[in-house]
Amino acid sequence: MKVLLLAGGDSSEKEVSLRSGAAIYDALKHLGHEVLAINPSGGHSLVGADGKFMTALPPHVNPTSVQIADTRAISTTFKATDFGKAELVVIALHGGSGENGTIQSLLDLSGVKYTGSGMAASAIAMDKAITKRLFVSEGIPTPRWEQYRWKSEADDPAIAADILRKFDFPLIVKPNNSGSTVGLTKVKDEPNVIPAIHACVKESPDILVEEFIPGRELTVSVIEGEALPLVEIVPKNELYDYEAKYTKGMSNYIAPAEVEPWLARGMQETAVKAFNVIGASGLVRVDFILSPENEYYCLEVNTLPGMTNLSLAPMAAKVAGMTFDDLVARIVDSAMRK
Ligand SMILES: Nc1ncnc2c1ncn2[C@@H]1O[C@H](COP(=O)(O)OP(=O)(O)O)[C@@H](O)[C@H]1O
Ligand SMILES: [Mg+2]
Repeated sequence: MKVLLLAGGDSSEKEVSLRSGAAIYDALKHLGHEVLAINPSGGHSLVGADGKFMTALPPHVNPTSVQIADTRAISTTFKATDFGKAELVVIALHGGSGENGTIQSLLDLSGVKYTGSGMAASAIAMDKAITKRLFVSEGIPTPRWEQYRWKSEADDPAIAADILRKFDFPLIVKPNNSGSTVGLTKVKDEPNVIPAIHACVKESPDILVEEFIPGRELTVSVIEGEALPLVEIVPKNELYDYEAKYTKGMSNYIAPAEVEPWLARGMQETAVKAFNVIGASGLVRVDFILSPENEYYCLEVNTLPGMTNLSLAPMAAKVAGMTFDDLVARIVDSAMRK
């Protein structure tokens, strides 16, 4: 089948997306597909003359042209490639317009099938606060939160005062709508509240504050409504931050996680509920914290989970007896059935 793979993009997670793209590219080739791979931000091909996927920018591409956060540029890119002839678009983008429903709606309008969640589920999952409201409506436990809209530094005192009134330390300040722990801070005392707000608003003026849940970090991948085995993440850093996520050796992974079966089942059922409540399709990954009292809290749903060789969903799939190629094949099949 003729497949168009999208990777890169213009979000803060573009480097990771290129790594996911490289791994998915190889899998699609192994599966016998004819693969065209492009970076929708800038529109250049990601396949070199040697037929290999390029994770670095090719020399003829002007780096400034790939920074444009402009959906019109992306649709121009689509028109310029022969994506119209592709039977399926495989999305390996993370964050930004690739994960928030924008590209999904463009593909809907073009009438082309694509992998993963549709526009609405993507947009919901990208908004952590809306996702959490849906969690509450389904009885899915999630850390207590408050949302703030920041316009300028003049808002700092009021926001900080409200946070101090409503939360104890430590607490978490994070952008409501981005990923990879970028702009997230664990705040341990009052002098660090405003710096945390500033770190967050560099990413987004839409601030989410949560109670900090101490405990183990677990994730459940769900493919087409079926939960895969749990994976535990043991970051060497205090949080599962950007470095811990993407640097080899900065986290240990335990797959399958050593969690009592009744608890693992509960978390898997909860992950499937989370998949369903946002209306997801294909593969998602649901992040949890498990407290020492064996209470689990759902943090978020990732509708385009990492697909690098270090990533969690492929690790969970492996425990379930699926190779990386098998997982990609399932994602493709699920999209073709839509
Ligand atoms: N309320 C919380 N309590 C404890 N740790 C948290 C909390 N929120 C986030 N974290 C930590 O930060 C990481 C990233 O948070 P998450 O909400 O999953 O956002 P992202 O989209 O950046 O992955 C989590 O994996 C966890 O290590
Ligand atoms: Mg997460």
